[in-house]
Amino acid sequence: MSNIERLKTEQHKSTLDPVSKFLLEFSNQPIRALLIYLHKKIIPMYKKFDVGHQTEHVLGVIKWSSRIVNQLASKIPIDINLMYTVAAFHDTGLKYGMARHDKNVVKVIGEYKKDLAVWFSEKEIATIIEACLYHDPKDGRKPRNIYGMILYDAGIIQDGDDINALMIPDSKKIIKHKKSSK
Ligand SMILES: [Fe+2]
Repeated sequence: MSNIERLKTEQHKSTLDPVSKFLLEFSNQPIRALLIYLHKKIIPMYKKFDVGHQTEHVLGVIKWSSRIVNQLASKIPIDINLMYTVAAFHDTGLKYGMARHDKNVVKVIGEYKKDLAVWFSEKEIATIIEACLYHDPKDGRKPRNIYGMILYDAGIIQDGDDINALMIPDSKKIIKHKKSSK
């Protein structure tokens, strides 16, 4: 049985960790097997990264991006599964070092493409890659799709950067909740 088949089977019997349970409360129920996959196979990569890009960082970006999605829910249709995946992968380019890490994410997503194809079409995987590019406000380049914009804003909120740089007006609305939900 392949890893993916095993994870798909596990979805019926597995108990999610507390973070996943918490995220599910406000994230319109992502596909459970996908969520388990991201938490088991992708998010643990962050343990090897620098102090500013540890697990807490990626979980924070997932949390804030999910909240922005909920804020936008009535206005723009956003696929929460795709957003969750973008947030989980966004800094994995650090696997190849800090320089060009937002470009190297393309390489990393390529390495996991077979797995992602279980849940996403070729076009959706291209959207995930596009969203992960240029997600760093310090890079000076702007995201190219709505998932990238949400990721960009979630990163600013998570890292406590200048909120005037936020791209989506609704992102500001969730900042007031930040202190109470840290
Ligand atoms: Fe990040």
